Amino acid sequence: MQNYPGALNAAVASAMTRLLQPTGRDVFVNLCCGSGSLLIERAAHGPAARLIGLDNAPAALALCRANLRAAGSGLAARVELIQADAREAPLPDGSITALCADLPFGQQVGSHAANLALYPAALADAARIAAPGARLCVISHEARLMADSLARNPGWELIEERRISLNGIFPRIYLLRRAPAR
Ligand SMILES: C[S@@+](CC[C@H](N)C(=O)[O-])C[C@H]1O[C@@H](n2cnc3c(N)ncnc32)[C@H](O)[C@@H]1O
Repeated sequence: MQNYPGALNAAVASAMTRLLQPTGRDVFVNLCCGSGSLLIERAAHGPAARLIGLDNAPAALALCRANLRAAGSGLAARVELIQADAREAPLPDGSITALCADLPFGQQVGSHAANLALYPAALADAARIAAPGARLCVISHEARLMADSLARNPGWELIEERRISLNGIFPRIYLLRRAPAR
């Protein structure tokens, strides 16, 4: 496995993917997949109809590909990687049943200024591609920005928010459900 700045540890990635209650029917997407911690944990958990990783950085996707191969068990062959902006994912409306994202915290990866534009737009596009009732699990250290972005986005209902301790900081894991259309 190769290191990537801001990569999640496997224990947190595994816990997040389990919060999505995986099933073999999942059409799963890992937005901002980076080197693939969440994607690998989900693929290793069991079958899915589709497993997709999306990131806008070619270097991150190259690492993700290498890590999928290193993980073995044929995981690399089961996963599709897409280079794209998480604010405009090239995926059809309502097509995804389970989503997760380790959004840039704005410290090691990205900046708070960039996050001000990224978070609301990425959450809005995630709601567009999510099927009714789909779950989205997000980890972020931008607590206020997440609260503001979710308050302005009727597409997501908060199921649960947990503050965790991770490498000396206290990010939050958000478990969300795609709200029914009004
Ligand atoms: C915190 S890192 C993800 C780390 C990942 N969980 C791992 O284990 O390696 C955030 C990722 O978001 C990606 N990213 C930032 N802005 C993006 C955007 N607008 N669209 C897609 N990906 C983006 C970065 O390239 C980076 O790989």
